[in-house]
Amino acid sequence: MIYNVAIIGYGYWGPKLARNFQNSNHFKVKYIIDKSIKNLSKAKTDFPIAKLYKNYKLIKKNQVNLVVVASPTKSHFIIAKYFLDKFHVLVEKPLSMSLKEVKILEQVSKKNNKLLFVDYPFLFSGSINYINKVIKSGKYGSLLEIETYREQAPIRTDSNVVWDLAVHDISILNYLLKQNPKKCNSLKIKTSNKSIADTAYLNLIYKNKLNVFIKNSWISPIKVRLMKFKFKKAILYCDENEGVHKIRIFVKNKSGSQYNIKMPEINLSEPLSELVNYIHRSIINKNNKIFENNLNINITRTLEKLA
Ligand SMILES: NC(=O)c1ccc[n+]([C@@H]2O[C@H](COP(=O)([O-])OP(=O)(O)OC[C@H]3O[C@@H](n4cnc5c(N)ncnc54)[C@H](O)[C@@H]3O)[C@@H](O)[C@H]2O)c1
Repeated sequence: MIYNVAIIGYGYWGPKLARNFQNSNHFKVKYIIDKSIKNLSKAKTDFPIAKLYKNYKLIKKNQVNLVVVASPTKSHFIIAKYFLDKFHVLVEKPLSMSLKEVKILEQVSKKNNKLLFVDYPFLFSGSINYINKVIKSGKYGSLLEIETYREQAPIRTDSNVVWDLAVHDISILNYLLKQNPKKCNSLKIKTSNKSIADTAYLNLIYKNKLNVFIKNSWISPIKVRLMKFKFKKAILYCDENEGVHKIRIFVKNKSGSQYNIKMPEINLSEPLSELVNYIHRSIINKNNKIFENNLNINITRTLEKLA
């Protein structure tokens, strides 16, 4: 069976989602909705057969199986809630900037037996899933510290840098550590625009005094996507900007003064195509394993404390 999809929002990220759904054997992009005529005309070139609308309320029951919400963050709640009684819904990150709203969306999805997915892309990346296996195996001993740096991204006007970029770090941490932080500290700075924080330094403390340090900034001439996981016996670097060797593991020698480097092979497929496959499996199996145990609620609760 081919599932029909409606994409709402065809700006920067919407076209990437549309391409990944269309490239899948299981989905077809049937509708594209955007308020902007300019972006709809781009959609017409990219998807000549899709139907194009300016108003998402023109999508009626039974016309699609999945709605993808890639409009600005402040519109996610109202649009996702509108569709969750009729269709499965994938919403861009962050799901909403309010814990109260995320709880409502979770309730509506349960009540209507519809699946609610959020595009936390790194949960579907080969690198983070490799690190997940390393942590589970315990082969390098306990985790002592995590550092993460995420710099350069489009400046937003409806959410600050914590909602926009730390959502990646917090979703990865929830996925890998399967726990919430015990303590959250944040320093937010407005370096370029007086009304919104564009840079943030975050510190989260987890069980067993595991410290996590996060630096997020939209303002940087260089794109940085680097995470460091310090284990007792090794330090793992994950650099998403690397084409092939995204992960390097520096394994300490017996004296602990020198390192041997390992560069493991990882799955390099595009995370969005893995997300599309995951959504297909979830619809078929009527489950949503990654999002079980209140993933969205836990992520939003931590972000609310930090933002
Ligand atoms: N997962 C990721 O890594 C990632 C990356 C980039 C953006 N995003 C998220 O995607 C969302 C969109 O970001 P973007 O950079 O594409 O923004 P954008 O401004 O480039 O695009 C948003 C589009 O939505 C349209 N729009 C606005 N309100 C609408 C409505 N009510 N109905 C229909 N269309 C509407 C706008 O006209 C615009 O074309 C944000 O929530 C952002 O956080 C996620």
